[in-house]
Amino acid sequence: MPVLSLAVVGDPHGAWDASDHALLERLAPDALLVVGDLSDGRPRVPALLRKLDLPVACILGNHDTGRDASGHTLRRQIEALGPLHCGWGLRQLLPPGLAVVGGRPGTAGGGFHLSPAMLAAYGPLSLQESADRITQAALAADPDLPLVLLAHCGPSGLGSQAADPCGRDWTKTACDWGDQDLALAIRQIRGRRAVPLVVFGHMHHGLKRGSGLRRTACSDRDGTVYLNAACVPRHGHDGAGRELRHFSWVELEGDGPEGGRVRRASHRWYGLGGELLYEELLLQQAGAATQSLTAC
Ligand SMILES: [Fe+2]
Ligand SMILES: [Fe+2]
Repeated sequence: MPVLSLAVVGDPHGAWDASDHALLERLAPDALLVVGDLSDGRPRVPALLRKLDLPVACILGNHDTGRDASGHTLRRQIEALGPLHCGWGLRQLLPPGLAVVGGRPGTAGGGFHLSPAMLAAYGPLSLQESADRITQAALAADPDLPLVLLAHCGPSGLGSQAADPCGRDWTKTACDWGDQDLALAIRQIRGRRAVPLVVFGHMHHGLKRGSGLRRTACSDRDGTVYLNAACVPRHGHDGAGRELRHFSWVELEGDGPEGGRVRRASHRWYGLGGELLYEELLLQQAGAATQSLTAC
């Protein structure tokens, strides 16, 4: 059974440079998925991503509009990414044999809301229309390829506490800040094919008001794994002064009618030479037995 190794970049916010490219050359994942908030609309990160010599798929986040309500900056980012950007669309990576479908680009979470920049770039549309675009892209994918949904904010339904994968943590009253159109799309797609993995960012791991760290992964009764990759900042150093680079890392196995299964998922912090210095294991499947993941 084929196993794909997927490196996931959560919310770089500018923390992306030649050291990441050198690291990826050493680590050689089968594909790289980037969940958005590349920077604040500047061209440097999209240009770097285009230079990578491996399969890449990317979705843009709310910060990628550059606080430019005209939509001009957002359009420039979309153009700069070219075929890498899969917002509301399908990007089939061949090799390694992976169907990536993007959620609604530019989202800031909170159910369903289109910012002025998004309205300017894409025009108005309803929650149902957004969900249908995602669904149609997924149903256009080769059914023999495992399907990954790549979104900036995760779907609603993953919990309403501040520390949940998409829980609002910046006000006293926590709530589910996930995207309802993405949740609807997942339900619609499931009627036709499996959704083994949904990766997203936006809801940064460190909670506001000094409340610790967010729960970053969960699974539901249908076997979908949800992974929040937004470790921000993703460039840092440890107590010994060693430089660290964060990637979320997923091993996805299988294809065909069952549509793939996440075998292992973790957060990894690498040294610049490619050494794995720290790892937080989120999920490990071993035959029928498992795992350390909480249910949604
Ligand atoms: Fe972010
Ligand atoms: Fe964001």
